[in-house]
Amino acid sequence: MALTGTALFPALALAATSGAAALEALPRVERATETPLYAFALADAGPGSDAAAVLGQRLYVDRRLSSDGSVSCDGCHLTYQAFADNGHAEGVHHSPLHRAPPTLFNAMFNATQFWDGRVATLEQQARGPLLNPTEMGNASEAALVARLTEVEEYREAFPRVFGRALSFEDVIAALTAYERRLIGLDAPFDRFIAGDDRALDASAKRGWALFNGRGRCIGCHAYSPANPFFTDQRFHNLGIAAQRTDLRARARQLQALAPAALDRAALSGEDLAELGRFLVTEHPADIGGFKTPTLRNVAMTDPYMHDGSLATLWDVLDHYNKGGTPNPYLDGAIQRLGLSESEIEDLIAFLESLTSDQFSARERPRFYYQRKAAQRRRPERDPDAATGRRGDRGDALPAPVDRSPATLGAF
Ligand code: HEC
Ligand code: HEC
Repeated sequence: MALTGTALFPALALAATSGAAALEALPRVERATETPLYAFALADAGPGSDAAAVLGQRLYVDRRLSSDGSVSCDGCHLTYQAFADNGHAEGVHHSPLHRAPPTLFNAMFNATQFWDGRVATLEQQARGPLLNPTEMGNASEAALVARLTEVEEYREAFPRVFGRALSFEDVIAALTAYERRLIGLDAPFDRFIAGDDRALDASAKRGWALFNGRGRCIGCHAYSPANPFFTDQRFHNLGIAAQRTDLRARARQLQALAPAALDRAALSGEDLAELGRFLVTEHPADIGGFKTPTLRNVAMTDPYMHDGSLATLWDVLDHYNKGGTPNPYLDGAIQRLGLSESEIEDLIAFLESLTSDQFSARERPRFYYQRKAAQRRRPERDPDAATGRRGDRGDALPAPVDRSPATLGAF
């Protein structure tokens, strides 16, 4: 049975009718509740988490969580852009960010958080933006607690929800309780996998076959009914960072970093940020490696990649098609693909089928804008490299055969 947010979380309905804080209805919870991962992720949520989630949603959009009152979580992870950014995110005092804010939708299922996986849990993660000087800029936990305690609504709400006075831990508990409600597996693709053959059009079906076949996408953007998020949760170098930085020279300069320094380096020291997973492990194979992101709702989370450097899905496909950007640490699975223009269109049609119903109205204009931009400019496009007429972008593996879309839906 498909559950709605209200059926699953009756407390949210109560909060909405009490009118206390004019809360928005939380996103609908559809088939995600049926995955084994959901029970696992919610096991961490703790008792009273419904009321905490409502409070967390209030905090999520409140700019008073930042030192100068200018930035909320929502200011960088835009609710209406599937909780990702639009390329214009900035921290307090207009600080530029050297990494792009990923979507928070389904983020509770991430094996690690951040592009370099430097922390494991949502709780550890949330400390980062609150205390990082280029994000929300709070000088200390106590400074944030003091500011929020001045707000009558919070002075009243925290004891009601957590049974004690407002504390830093409980701010985090509320925020993460809300993040654990940002889930959904309600895209056309999910209906297709569940057996509705009409949920995808012919182009998207061909795209799904290419995704599994000659596109070689599934190897990293792994999908299975038990792990339906299109990520292997691992780290790979696609040459995105290598476009601007001499990774080898940077890696030699790196000194071991303490956790707080690591968090700062990841966001404010541009060249260090580009070292990716290496910042965490100091293992040379991890230089310029970044976490495989989920592809859910990807049609509306442009710009793409850890640094937001690719503007459209066409740029992403062009980058893969030519075999990435060569560098000494390029992942072995990245090689030229030789895809035709119509195959690129099919892959993009498939990616668009991963948009959750709750976002589809917002996705359409955003996607249309991307398509227009790609018609004007395709800076990554290099058909000669993609087809092997020029350069050596690898032909190591025999091309897998595209499986018939008809057999792919049936698990
Ligand atoms: C100034 C912009 C900004 C603000 C404000 C901000 N974030 Fe982020 N967030 C980012 C960026 C950039 C990253 C990626 C950083 C990295 O990978 O090093 C990120 C990463 C994350 C991640 C990891 C997701 C993943 O897939 O790995 C989570 C979860 C998250 N933020 C939650 C929050 C919460 C909760 C708040 C509010 C307390 C918040 N963020 C405030 C910019 C921001
Ligand atoms: C070797 C592993 C690997 C393969 C193969 C791969 N990807 Fe990726 N993908 C990644 C990683 C890692 C990133 C993030 C890289 C970065 O930011 O530096 C990424 C990023 C993306 C993004 C951007 C998402 C975002 O939110 O910014 C899209 C879209 C994408 N991949 C689609 C595809 C498609 C389509 C294919 C097949 C043609 C594919 N990927 C093949 C690992 C892979």
